[in-house]
Amino acid sequence: FTPDVIRNFSIIAHIDHGKSTLADRLLELTGTIAAQQMGKNEQVLDKLKVERERGITADENANSMIYDRQASRYMLNLIDTPGHVDFAWEVSRSLAACQGALLLVDCSQGVQAQTISVFHNAKDRGLTIIPVLNKIDLPAADPDRVIAQMQATFGIDPEAVIPISAKTGRGVSELLRAIVERIPPPIGLTSSPFRGFLFDSFYDRYRGVISLLNVKEGTLRVGDKISSTFTGKRYEIMELGIMHPEETSTSALYPGQVGYMACNMKEPTDAHVGDTLYRVGQPVDSIPGFKPAKPMVFAGVYPIDSGDFPKLEESIKRLTLTDRSVSVQRESSSALGQGCRLGFLGTLHMDVFRQRLEDEYNANVIITAPTVPYKVVYKDKEVIVSNPTDFPEVTDTTSKVKEIQEPTVSASIIVPEQYFGDMMDLCFSHRAEDLDHRYLDSTEGSARILMTCTIPLSEIVTDFFDQLKSRSSGFASFDYEEAGYRRSDLAKMVFLLNSKPVDALALIVHRSAQESVGRAWVKKLHRVIPRQLFEVPIQAAIGKKVIARETLSAMRADVTAGLYGGHYERKMKHLENQKASKRKMKRIGTVNLPQEAFFDILSQS
Ligand code: GTP
Repeated sequence: FTPDVIRNFSIIAHIDHGKSTLADRLLELTGTIAAQQMGKNEQVLDKLKVERERGITADENANSMIYDRQASRYMLNLIDTPGHVDFAWEVSRSLAACQGALLLVDCSQGVQAQTISVFHNAKDRGLTIIPVLNKIDLPAADPDRVIAQMQATFGIDPEAVIPISAKTGRGVSELLRAIVERIPPPIGLTSSPFRGFLFDSFYDRYRGVISLLNVKEGTLRVGDKISSTFTGKRYEIMELGIMHPEETSTSALYPGQVGYMACNMKEPTDAHVGDTLYRVGQPVDSIPGFKPAKPMVFAGVYPIDSGDFPKLEESIKRLTLTDRSVSVQRESSSALGQGCRLGFLGTLHMDVFRQRLEDEYNANVIITAPTVPYKVVYKDKEVIVSNPTDFPEVTDTTSKVKEIQEPTVSASIIVPEQYFGDMMDLCFSHRAEDLDHRYLDSTEGSARILMTCTIPLSEIVTDFFDQLKSRSSGFASFDYEEAGYRRSDLAKMVFLLNSKPVDALALIVHRSAQESVGRAWVKKLHRVIPRQLFEVPIQAAIGKKVIARETLSAMRADVTAGLYGGHYERKMKHLENQKASKRKMKRIGTVNLPQEAFFDILSQS
């Protein structure tokens, strides 16, 4: 296959708009997999259990198809992209291997916000976009309206839209033709020195690290000696091939091709996504246009039973082998014991990781409230702080801290107009700025509106998404892109039990919300902390200043009170129970806290 008959493309689609179904149909139509095989392994592209359960594509894959048209034989490489905003990093790495993208929209649902940032990413890279309208077989389909939305949102020419049904197969052969005709072939000279882009890798117990790569220029053959720009390490190619749809070995990969390679790479950490590979002795310029993964949401992960820490740490280590976008650091807390601080790409990413931990390693964990990376600007340096514990106590003008900055995102929300007012309120209550909006279609009474604003990342990592959904009866969709840091009036709030701070509960709040947050938290603590033998003040404080306070009145811990004589066994049992639960208590200063109290507080935040 010479570059002129190769087409590398991705599918950009909102969740459930039919990406996997279309991929299956393309594989089937090109004879890559037989129709009868489909039922067995529904949707070849989505492999992980957790993805199936949540119906999202969290990991990456690539598939090669052979397509005969007129006298030519084409190789079509479908490079899968995750459909969720948290995985923008993976989107960026897959788009870097493509020349075109199919923008797939469900014509019964209309344009959704989630695809906006991926679309712009593809457009900025100069990829050819083929707009595709899916599910035209559905009675609820409203093609004209959705085409109008595509035009208003993405500036798409209505003439260019290809209507299909991924389910019945209608229109899919026209789409295949458009892929070949509209998407340009990769530019890459066979005679140039080899230059390859590593975009994914996985670990195989027998062969070591298997990497997926896109050959940008030159030819790669079995036996070639290559080197990594990133690590400088050298390898020999043991095996090469394409995913057709499973691994199919070949003797060489040519310019524009996407395939896998096994070399004598033993350490998964040596496969750097975004790395440029070259032949030993023939160094090349590295391939630009790739944004590395950057964790934006951090949380502490602790075992429920502190004796389980070694097991938890081992499980985390093994999981990060398959998902290296997670950053890991040990941390300890006087309340929760030994744990790890993990950095995720977003909150969905965090949920997926937690579920994997629970599913694959039976690990019972407590995850603390998520925080974002703040920037603390001192007179002579800037420090990124992602753990409230490390946040400076005092941030007034007399201290060494010049200012605090927080990460922001530019958000897009698409919503039917009757929910517009609610969405405005939601945005304002989350400190949104630069609010703007425009209509995407002109349907009387239920036109869709695209709203945009800048909003602090910390405001959307907690309950923003849930509120967006509930306040719009599920109709609003949401997407965001990083928008840099901005100065902000933030402070560290600590909670004191009997005047002793509880480290695991510290949080960063915006000053405008300090009273309401402080009050809500002390109320919550008051509710879940059991009464002690003495009176316990529960306080929220910023620096030396107490913002909110509740007092837990004293009780006499006589568990046998109310049990009358003669019930000796019952009495003993109660005493036994009390002893057992004491063991599970955590001592904070002079206050005993049951694990469940932490659980309650942290899981609600
Ligand atoms: P994620 O993997 O969650 O991103 O979803 P996806 O975009 O891959 O969607 P998927 O292919 O899983 O399709 C979602 C649902 O839509 C499934 O129930 C499909 O059977 C259905 N579906 C996909 N294409 C069509 C179509 O053309 N017509 C109809 N009627 N249903 C379709």
